[in-house]
Parts: sequence; structure tokens; C-alpha cells
Amino acid sequence: KAMSTSSRPKVFVTRRVPEDGINLLKEHCEVSQWNSDDAITREELIRGIKGVDALFCLLTDKIDEGILDAAGDSLRAIGTMSVGYDHIDLAACRKRGIPVGYTPDVLTSATAELTVALLLNVSRRLGEGVEAVKDGSWGTWSPLWMCGQGLDGATVGILGLGRIGLAVAQCLKPFGVAKILYSGNSEKDEAKQLQAEFVTFDELLKKSDFVLGCCALTKENIGLMNKEAFSKMKKTAVFINTSRGGLVNQDDLYEALKYGEIFAAGVDVTSPEPLPTDSSLLSLSNCVVLPHIGSATMKARNAMSELCARNIIAALKGNPMLKQVQ
Ligand code: DGY
Repeated sequence: KAMSTSSRPKVFVTRRVPEDGINLLKEHCEVSQWNSDDAITREELIRGIKGVDALFCLLTDKIDEGILDAAGDSLRAIGTMSVGYDHIDLAACRKRGIPVGYTPDVLTSATAELTVALLLNVSRRLGEGVEAVKDGSWGTWSPLWMCGQGLDGATVGILGLGRIGLAVAQCLKPFGVAKILYSGNSEKDEAKQLQAEFVTFDELLKKSDFVLGCCALTKENIGLMNKEAFSKMKKTAVFINTSRGGLVNQDDLYEALKYGEIFAAGVDVTSPEPLPTDSSLLSLSNCVVLPHIGSATMKARNAMSELCARNIIAALKGNPMLKQVQ
């Protein structure tokens, strides 16, 4: 299935994306694009993907059997401009022999940085403090007012010590963190450099002052952070999630925050996205919700666009993708 010299392969791009990737694609392919900042509808995706050789998609596009059927036999490469690929039916792609590319590494620093920013914001109550200044509830300096949780001497528990989890742990260490715990499918060699300890999920919940969701979303961990999990955490603990909203049962998170089972939470990802403005989570002073901006630096987004394009081009040339999921 190598690229033919006579006709250029067709690529469909499901959104307006940084031009680094588009320019690269244009050197090798005919590019058609859903030229909007809004997510493509399923109907338009079905229309756009018909007869193309490759798809450049985003995490907001659900790529399932129906979409692959709509593409037809011509489709021989899928690239998602994201490190997460839970929106793609990998088994369906495998069945059809379609390689799937993704964009790890290039967004690791940006996402780790945002995770730390959110953690500090929540644990030191920055949002509440800023509000208090504006609304006049800032009285005199007070010994007991606006006290939060610090990292010095704390135990940090990371759910999923992958690329991002590891980068977050490295960022947090200099704050005086006493211990780093992690849970997941397997023990990681990289953990040694941080003296991070592999523990069970239960142990992590019980011992951690900060619990950070940094793992990929899988069938096995949907709703992992539920009522039972929150009840095992310390009442002083802070929960941060920058992975996928599906990791959390949001009703249970609301209850845990409302009734003081945990101290506070910060989430950059929700289910659904966008989070409806009447979500109960938004009524809580000890909860900060960000609009899925973990990788939102110019540098990371440009690199993601470029890597996604390179993955696609490689596959169209009959080569392995630079970063291939399967
Ligand atoms: C990803 O890449 O999966 C993030 O959620 C967005 O950058």
C-alpha cells in the first residue's frame, strides 16, 4: 500500500489545527478540512471521510465502526492529534489493518506543568482567595483564614506513572514532597530515579495527601474514582485529574467534596465536555474545573499537529508511524 506517484493521497482533517501539520500534509497529500473551531458533527465526518486515504482527527471525534465503514476501503492511516486514544475503536482499526498514530511526548511538559498549576491553585485556594479580594470578604489578615494543604512533607499518589505522571512527579519533588506512590498495571523502571513506590490502588488512596489522575482511560478504569475510592482518601487530601473525565464518577466526587470526605479537587477534564454550566461541581468552593487545557501551549499544540501529520505521511508511504498506537 505505498503512496502512488501518479495521484496524491487524500487526507481529511476534522478541525482547524496549527498550520505546521497542515503545511506538512500539503507537501504530500490533497488535504480537505473541516475548517472550523467547532467539533465536526458525525454527519459531516461521515461525509468528509468518504474515500480518503487518511484521517487527521482529534479527541472530540468518535472513530468507531460506523465511521470506518463510511470511509470505505481506501482508508489506510489514522492520526489523532492527542496522546489519548480512548475515542478510537482500536480493535475495529486493527481488524481493517489501519495503523493509528498519536502524539505522546510533545505534550508531556505542558500537561505536567498544567497539572502542577492546578494542584497548587486548588491546594492553596488561589481561586477562592482571588474571589475574596474582589467581593470584599477579605477582612483583616487572619491566622485561620484561607489555609490550605502544602506539598512540603506530603505524600503524593500518582494514578498511572506514565510519561505525564513521571513528569509531574519530577516537577513536584523540589517542593519537598516526602514520598511518591504510584499505582497502575505494572511497576515502572523509571520510578527508581524518584524513589517512587509501587502500591495498590487502595494503599495509594489511604496514604496520599494528593491523589493525581495521570493515566490513560481504559475499559478497566472507567469510574475508578467513585464513592468507595473517595471514602478511602484522607479528609485532608486533594484530588487532581488531568487525564480523562471518565476516570471519575462526578456525582460521587461532588458528594465527597460537599460532605468533606476530601479537602478539595481540581479537574481539567470532565464528562461530558464541555461541562454543563449547571453542573453541581461548579457550585462548590473547594472544586476548580478547567476546560481541558493541559496541552494548551503554542509549542505543544504546534508539535502535536506536526507529529500527527508526520505519522500519517509515514503510513501513507508504507512506513511505520513515528508514534504508533498499534
Ligand atoms: C490528549 O492529547 O489526549 C489531551 O487530552 C489533549 O492534549
